[in-house]
Amino acid sequence: MKTSVCIIGGGPSGLMLSQLLHLKGIDTIVLERQSREYVLGRIRAGVLEHGFAELMREAECGERMDQEGEIHDGIIIAHDGEQQRVDLNKYSGGSSVLVYGQTELTRDLYEARDRMKGVVIHNVEDVQLHELVGTKPHVTYRKGDEIIRVDCDFIIGADGFHGVSRKSIPKTVLKEYEKIYPFGWLGLLSRTPPVSPELIYAKHERGFALCSLRSQVLSRYYIQVPLTDTVEDWSDEAFWAELKRRLPQDVATRLVTGPSIEKSIAPLRSFVAEPMRYGHLFLAGDAAHIVPPTGARGLNSAASDIYYLYHAMVAHYQQGDSSGLDNYSAKALARVWKAQRFSWWMTTLLHTFPDSPSYDQKLQQTDLEYLFSSDQALGSLAENYVGLPF
Ligand code: APR
Ligand code: PHB
Repeated sequence: MKTSVCIIGGGPSGLMLSQLLHLKGIDTIVLERQSREYVLGRIRAGVLEHGFAELMREAECGERMDQEGEIHDGIIIAHDGEQQRVDLNKYSGGSSVLVYGQTELTRDLYEARDRMKGVVIHNVEDVQLHELVGTKPHVTYRKGDEIIRVDCDFIIGADGFHGVSRKSIPKTVLKEYEKIYPFGWLGLLSRTPPVSPELIYAKHERGFALCSLRSQVLSRYYIQVPLTDTVEDWSDEAFWAELKRRLPQDVATRLVTGPSIEKSIAPLRSFVAEPMRYGHLFLAGDAAHIVPPTGARGLNSAASDIYYLYHAMVAHYQQGDSSGLDNYSAKALARVWKAQRFSWWMTTLLHTFPDSPSYDQKLQQTDLEYLFSSDQALGSLAENYVGLPF
């Protein structure tokens, strides 16, 4: 097989790039290890920066997002029994976010690839990358007993944190930065009306909690749990009872509970791999960087990588200008690290750190008081939450 750009990974990053390049007449093949059903079965976050929403519209698959997504102009931070609203629209100079599930977004991207007869090959095994700095870059994969070769100009590693692409970069070249947090998030999805029209981020001595939503009939809640906990340790009843303990009284009173339709624990990690380019290979999304979900940056950071790669590829194929490709790693990392900083800050501000020294606890409390005493501090939170410019 032969293509211009071989994309490893059929998650939101890989599909978005494939769709955008297709619209510019640039050929791609997407190789995905899992089935489509499996990929669409993953429950992930759902807060989109305005820049990401724009990219979905440019990719001609923003229709359902704009119909079913909710524009949110604010978030609520609950602490010490009170609730304080952050007016994102006011403090970001008029921007907002779109609440629309990543699962739905990925479904829209798949349907757009189908409409355009895009090549997305599922259930590929043993993907390997070859000649990354050679003259004939290519990818091989196994389908049953057959080994298939895909010759290409460029390889995109959009295969997530556990993918093969990043691991194909020599250790002498790749530098990894990591921070592991001493807790995870237990998430629960329920077919119940959301407790609040806007997201509530709750700081509580028993641990963090988040009230989010997918629609007016589908809610998503999270509580901070020790890393040693398992889903089996948490019945639905225990989850709801603990969530109520961590929310202001009036919110807890109006919380509608119900059976979980999905329940899972995600560890919290900050991770960045540098550089994001090695020869003909370009990393994008979770393959290169992970953030704790507190700042809702994961998907949005992936989107900014795709934005830079898309424009760099178009300039290369249409104008023979490779400067965008040459600057991709530096440009993408500059924005990635800002998302890392914001996610670390939100996580540090709102979670309960076991065994944190009393001085650090005082600082955390002061950080929260400063936030709500300063328009500049609120402005900083708002501009990062709605999305920094690409
Ligand atoms: N070969 C082919 N496909 C692979 C391989 C492999 N060796 N390894 C992983 N994959 C596939 C996975 O099955 C997955 O579908 O790559 C895809 C990577 O998708 P994501 O993990 O969703 O990563 P990305 O597309 O970058 O999206 C980032 O996902 O995890 C969230 O918070 C994160 O929102 C962010 C978004
Ligand atoms: C979610 O809706 O799943 C969600 C929202 C905001 C976050 C994290 C997750 O910060």
